[in-house]
Amino acid sequence: MQARNHRFPPDPWCLREDAPDPATHFLNETLFALGNGYIGVRGTAEEGWSGPGGTSRDGTYLNGFYESESIHYPETAHALAKTNQFMLNVPNAKGIAIWVEEERFDPLQGRLENYQRSLDLRRGVLERSLTWTSPSGRSIALRSRRLVCLDNRHLLAFEVEVTPLNFSGTVRIVSSLDGAVQNLEAGDDPRIGSAVSGASLQLLSAEQEGDFCALVQRTRNSGFMLVSATLTEVDGKGTVEAQCSRDGLRLEQTYALPAVQGEKITVRKYACYHTSRDYPEDELLTRSCDVLEVALRGGFDVLAARQAAYLADFWQQSDVEIDGDDLLQQGIRFNQYHLLQSVGRDGKTNISAKGVTGEGYEGHYFWDTEIYIFPFFLYNKPEIARALLEYRWAGLESARRRARQMSHPKGALYPWRTIAGEECSAYFPAGTAQYHINADIAYSIRQYLDATGDDAWLRAHGAEIVMETARIWTGIGTYDRHGSFVINEVTGPDEYTALVNNNYYTNAMAQAHLEFAAAIAARLAGEFPEDYARIAQSMDLAPGEPEEWANAARLMLLPYDTALQIHEQDDSFLSKKRWDFANTPPGNYPLLLNYHPMVIYRHQVCKQADVVLALLLLSARFGQDDKRRDFDYYEAVTTHDSSLSSCIFSIIAAEVGYADKAYDYFMETARLDLDDTHGNTCHGVHTAAMAGTWLGVAYGFGGMRTDGGSLRFAPTLPARWQGYRFRIQLRGCLLQVGVNGAGTTYRLVQGEALQFTHHGKPVALTAAQPEHQEAA
Ligand code: BGC
Repeated sequence: MQARNHRFPPDPWCLREDAPDPATHFLNETLFALGNGYIGVRGTAEEGWSGPGGTSRDGTYLNGFYESESIHYPETAHALAKTNQFMLNVPNAKGIAIWVEEERFDPLQGRLENYQRSLDLRRGVLERSLTWTSPSGRSIALRSRRLVCLDNRHLLAFEVEVTPLNFSGTVRIVSSLDGAVQNLEAGDDPRIGSAVSGASLQLLSAEQEGDFCALVQRTRNSGFMLVSATLTEVDGKGTVEAQCSRDGLRLEQTYALPAVQGEKITVRKYACYHTSRDYPEDELLTRSCDVLEVALRGGFDVLAARQAAYLADFWQQSDVEIDGDDLLQQGIRFNQYHLLQSVGRDGKTNISAKGVTGEGYEGHYFWDTEIYIFPFFLYNKPEIARALLEYRWAGLESARRRARQMSHPKGALYPWRTIAGEECSAYFPAGTAQYHINADIAYSIRQYLDATGDDAWLRAHGAEIVMETARIWTGIGTYDRHGSFVINEVTGPDEYTALVNNNYYTNAMAQAHLEFAAAIAARLAGEFPEDYARIAQSMDLAPGEPEEWANAARLMLLPYDTALQIHEQDDSFLSKKRWDFANTPPGNYPLLLNYHPMVIYRHQVCKQADVVLALLLLSARFGQDDKRRDFDYYEAVTTHDSSLSSCIFSIIAAEVGYADKAYDYFMETARLDLDDTHGNTCHGVHTAAMAGTWLGVAYGFGGMRTDGGSLRFAPTLPARWQGYRFRIQLRGCLLQVGVNGAGTTYRLVQGEALQFTHHGKPVALTAAQPEHQEAA
C-alpha cells in the first residue's frame, strides 16, 4: 500500500483518536460526525472548542431542510437558475459545559490525560474518555457517549459522566440549546459555502420549562418552521436555573451539583428536530415533547441497544471483508457506515455530495446519487434505493417545469444540483448543461427494475419518469446531414470540458435511455394497456413518439476515432492541445482553483472519468481491446481532481488486466476521507467516492456487471490480499461472493434460486444446492 499519513490505528471496526490535535480538529469533526440520513451532527465536543479560529466548524444539519436565496448575476440570461437552496446549519443541541467550581472544563487548558475518542462502527456510538486537571489542580474523569438514532430520525442522545477525582465541591453542568448559528459564507472555493445574506432562521418563540427547552424558528425565505428541543436529565439534580440570552436564541439550564470525590455524576440529554417540511406546524412542538419523553423513559442504554441491533442487521447484509489489509478494511467499513448515516430514506430527501457532515456543496444532491451511490443501496438495502427513486418521482413536476423554462415543449429535465427539485446550479456550463442527469436517472431505474422485478413501481412511477425524461433527447438532438442523431451543446461528466457537441458519455447513455423508454412503452402497451393509456394521457404522448425514440437511439452518433481506435470524448476533444502536465506544479492542482475555466476547456484535460465511465455502465457494448485503448488514452489526460474519478479508473483497470493500477486507484478511493487525500474533508465526506469504494470491490475486483439485464462476475484477487467477500441482494436472494487464492465461492445465503455467470460460464444456485466453487 502507498505511504500515507494514516492518523488512526488500523482497527477494522473502529475509528480511534488517541490525542486531540488542533491541527486535525476540523477534519476529525467530519470523520467523527454522526447521522441517520436526516440529522447530521459534526464531531465537535459537548463542551465546545476554544482553539484558534479556523480550526473548527460546528454544525448540525437536517437533510433536505433548506433556506433559499436569490442567485444574483450581475449579467444575467434567460432561464438561468434563479434561486439557490442550501442545507441549513440548525441550532446546536450538543452543548453540555462542565464547571469545576469556578473553572470551566476545557481540554486546551490545564492538563489532559488518558484521552481517547472512538467510533465503533458496529455500535454507532461516539465515545470519549479522558482525565482532566484544571489549571488550579482539580481533576475529573470524564466519559461521554453520543448517538444519532438510526431507527428514529428525529432523535439524538448524549450521555456525559463526570467523576471528581481529588476534590469534593460544586460541579455545575450547563446544558444549552444554541440557535445563534449560521452557515459558511461563500469564498473563493466554489465547492464551499453559500451566498447567505443574513440570519436564515428567525426566532418565533423560545420555550423553557424545567429540564425541557425548545426554540421555534422560521426560515426567512423558504418559510419552513423548525422546532429544536432538548430534555436534560441530571442524576442528583441539585438546583436548576434556566437562562435565556438577550436575543432569545441561546437557552441554558444550569445544574449546580454537590459533587463528592470518587462519585460519578451522570448527565443525559435527548434532543430532537421537527420541521414543517414533514408535519403541520401546530404539531411540531407536541411531537418534539413526545419523542423526548419516550426517549427519557427508555434511557440512553435502550437507545444504544437499538442502535447496535440496527447496525448488526446492516452489517449482516452488507459487510465487505478483506483478508490481509486492516487499513483498507477500516476504510471500506468507514465508508459504508457513512453512506448509511448520510442517505435520506423517506422519499422526500436524497443523499448529498457531503452527506450530512458538512456544508460543502451546500447539501445539494447531484448525479452522484444515481451513478455512484445508488448501486450500493440497491444491492445492500434495496428499500433505501427505492426511496431514492421515490425522491425523483416527487421531483418530476419540477423537472417538467424546468424543461419548459429551457424551451422544451415536452418532457422533463432534472436539475443538475438541487435539494427540493429546482435547479440550483449557478454556473450552467458545469451545471444545467449536464443533461446526462436524465439518462443517469433512467439508468438507475433500469438497474432497480432488473434487480427487484418491481413491476408495480414501474407502472406507478418508473415508466413515466423514464419516458418523460427520454423526450428531452429527441427535443435537443437532431439528425445531421449524414443522418446520424446528434446531441449538441451539452457537458458530459468531465467538468474540465464544457458545452460540446456529441459528448460520448451523454450520447451513449441517451441511446440506452431512448431504447429503454421505447421498450417500456411497448411492454406497457402490450401487458398493461390501462397503465399505458393513463401515462400516455398524463404526458400527452403523441402516437409514434416511442418509435421516434427508438429511431434516434438506432442512429445515435457515437464518436470514434478510427486512427487512434478510441472513443472520442466529444467532437472536438481530440483536436485540442494537450494540457502541459509536465510543467504544471503540483500546487496547481486541482486545476479548477488555479486556472480560469476557459483555459482548462481549451485543453485536452479531464477532471474525471467520462468515456471511461461509459465503459463501465454500458460494459456489454464494448470489447476488451476498446476498453484497454480508451483507458490508456484517457488515463494520460485525467487529473482525477474530482473525487468521483479514481474508483472508475480502478474498476476498468481491473477489467483490462492492469492489476497494479486497479489496486492503486482503489486505495485512492477507499481512504480518500480517512486520509484526507483531497484536502477538503473538513467540509464534509465525499459520499460518491465512499460508494465508489464498494463499486471498486464488487464491480472492480469482483468483476460484477448487471447491464444488459444479466448478472455476471469475473473475480480477480489483488496480490496484496489473501481474500475478500461481499454480499449482494438481488431478486429476493442474498448472495455471498468469496474470493481467495484457491478460487471463488458463491453462496446463496437466502433465497430460492439465482443464476449468473462466472468469467462467462453459467452458474445456477438453489436453496438445495446453495454453494458453488470455481478454482482459481
Ligand atoms: C464533480 C461532479 C460532482 C460534484 C459533486 C464535482 O467536483 O465534478 O461530477 O457531481 O463534484 O460531487
